[in-house]
Amino acid sequence: MNSLFKETKIKNMGLKNRVVMPPMCMYCAGEDGVVTDWHILHYASRAVGGTALLIVEATGICPEGRISSNDLGLWQDDQIAGMKKLTDAVHANGAKIAVQLNHAGRKCTAEGMDVEAPSAIPFDGESVTPRAMTKADIEETIQQFRQAAERAEKAGFDMVEIHGAHGYLLSEFLSPLTNQRTDEYGGSRENRVRLLGQVIDAVKEVWPEEKPLCVRVSAEDYQEGGNMAEDLAEMLNLVKDKGIDLVDVSTGGVVPAVPNAVKGYQIPHGEKIKKLTGLPVIAGGLVTDPQEAEEIIFSGRADFVYIGRELLRNPYWPLQAANELGVDMAWPKQYERAKPRHK
Ligand SMILES: Cc1cc2nc3c(=O)[nH]c(=O)nc-3n(C[C@H](O)[C@H](O)[C@H](O)COP(=O)(O)O)c2cc1C
Repeated sequence: MNSLFKETKIKNMGLKNRVVMPPMCMYCAGEDGVVTDWHILHYASRAVGGTALLIVEATGICPEGRISSNDLGLWQDDQIAGMKKLTDAVHANGAKIAVQLNHAGRKCTAEGMDVEAPSAIPFDGESVTPRAMTKADIEETIQQFRQAAERAEKAGFDMVEIHGAHGYLLSEFLSPLTNQRTDEYGGSRENRVRLLGQVIDAVKEVWPEEKPLCVRVSAEDYQEGGNMAEDLAEMLNLVKDKGIDLVDVSTGGVVPAVPNAVKGYQIPHGEKIKKLTGLPVIAGGLVTDPQEAEEIIFSGRADFVYIGRELLRNPYWPLQAANELGVDMAWPKQYERAKPRHK
């Protein structure tokens, strides 16, 4: 009995298997943040290759919310048409598509931006010192997430993922290493998760009830005094009833600390978040082997597995993995003559 290629549903989003492409910046949009031909080719190829759900790279909710000058954006209406072309291309090739909405916070490197963060602490010796956000900045950011989600809906996305990981703005609020505020947004876990909760509330005002909402978190900061999976689980539990349907579990990126990244090192984080919150999770990191992916799903350690760099190397990974696991997966009809035949 195969688990990796079993279909499932989250709210109204039907998924043909459990393979997810995680968000990966392509750094090839122009300063206008608009989708290019590369994006269409890149994402549609992974749809052709059999991935069930593609999560589009970190997409700025405002110009200073971009990680680089070449990120995609959804901060203005003329960015909707390109995104619609992208969702149409992916849907036409049998996959579902989500967008990761991001504010880069202190890790914004786009040129000429007003870099802001919960507290005025730079990422490292080479980074700019961000400006500590005022209440008005925070309120503006919440509204920008709402407006970006509204545009994502108009562009035809099946799911939105709120980027709460890797030391970008929301993640900076979640971690005590980057959030040293003394107001209601800093200090206790309840305070540090307040902004994420308010962003979820604002997104839910415009995001259709029948479509899922996902949050990506860094479940460990890899530095003393930072967050661990248990902290993230506790914070997610405080806001999950606002409407989190899925958690995309990653780690790190909040401070320069580098984890000992060995095969499967983040799977226990996913497992903990799933167990402690009761929410379905996407887990992964350095997963390349079909048997390993199958085992993660079969054992119930995660509900979905993300395959990142391996899908950059090989867009047809799911078709090949199905073959290796002895699963009869439908191939694109144009490629059917190349499908391996089992005796
Ligand atoms: C080129 C590249 C760009 C990435 N961009 C993002 C991003 O935009 N948002 C995000 O949450 N993670 C990003 N990541 C992290 C991936 O989503 C994923 O968590 C990481 O690559 C680990 O999975 P893997 O070992 O299967 O590649 C990026 C990774 C790569 C390699």
